[in-house]
Amino acid sequence: MEGADVYHGGAHFLRDAAASGRYSGCVKVLRAAGEMQAASTEAKRSGRLVTLVPTMGALHEGHIALIRHAHEQQGLVVVSIYVNPTQFGPDDDFKHYPRDLDADCHACERENVDLVFAPSDEEMYPSGSVTTWIEEAKLAKRFEGEKRPGHFCGVCTVVAKLFNIVQPNVAIFGKKDYQQLKVIERMVRDLRYPVGIASVPTVREPDGLAASSRNQHLTSADRAQATVLWKSLGVVRDLFNHGEHSPHRLEAAVTRTISLAPVARLDYAAVVDAETLEPVHEAKHGDVVLVAAYVGKTRLIDNVIL
Ligand code: PAJ
Repeated sequence: MEGADVYHGGAHFLRDAAASGRYSGCVKVLRAAGEMQAASTEAKRSGRLVTLVPTMGALHEGHIALIRHAHEQQGLVVVSIYVNPTQFGPDDDFKHYPRDLDADCHACERENVDLVFAPSDEEMYPSGSVTTWIEEAKLAKRFEGEKRPGHFCGVCTVVAKLFNIVQPNVAIFGKKDYQQLKVIERMVRDLRYPVGIASVPTVREPDGLAASSRNQHLTSADRAQATVLWKSLGVVRDLFNHGEHSPHRLEAAVTRTISLAPVARLDYAAVVDAETLEPVHEAKHGDVVLVAAYVGKTRLIDNVIL
């Protein structure tokens, strides 16, 4: 099916060449949904828990932290690697999203992952047209959902498919994508998926930049200034800790700090309730500050819990 198309919400995506399949190391790589389902059923029959770490590959320290957390469940650890076309908009970086299945499999092998599930587009979106989508209608509306229309519909749909295929007892997500975590938690609750959702704090580079597959796109000049997101969140946290509870003034501090980096352009900054993601009238402990900014051509997101 290489070269075939996937249509979603009017957007058009060229199918990628999927993964190379060249990897010939020790970790077991499954490409077919049926095989994955059978392996999961077999593990559960022998009394093992199944833990899933869903990823789009280009694995970095953030993903590794999720895998290590998955091992704490002491069951079968499955890492899915699939660059999901339907969560990218027409102007997003789907075509240029970093892909290296060989390197990812080696990383999984080093981390003693039991199974890598790396499906093709045909396996996930058979016959090129899928007409059933999952849409969370509240938490997904603002921020990433507003800036990237259709994004969370693509995320929820692919995660639901992965849950049906892998049938995990537990799935692990990162707090780095805070809104995504909350949307998935709500989807699981609303649809009564028998899957426990666990979350892992954001893993950062030594200078504070949140680890991300998209960091690979930063030029060295961009990379030097990309720390401005984390710096702006640090300024907000300090202001809050010194008694500033006005969301407007806290958000303005993010705007000011981001504007100090010439290559950065703020997309949004918001102080929100940690569960409802609604903007707050007065910031309180436990609220979350969400930020998204372009650094050069690369769009980055970050957050901090007050
Ligand atoms: P991806 O961006 O590959 O991220 C996979 C998981 O790793 C997500 O749960 C994300 O929050 C987590 N993660 C990424 N960077 C992290 C960091 N620095 N620290 C901690 N966790 C981090 O998120 C996706 O893929 C996709 O939307 C997916 C859920 C796989 C659906 O396609």
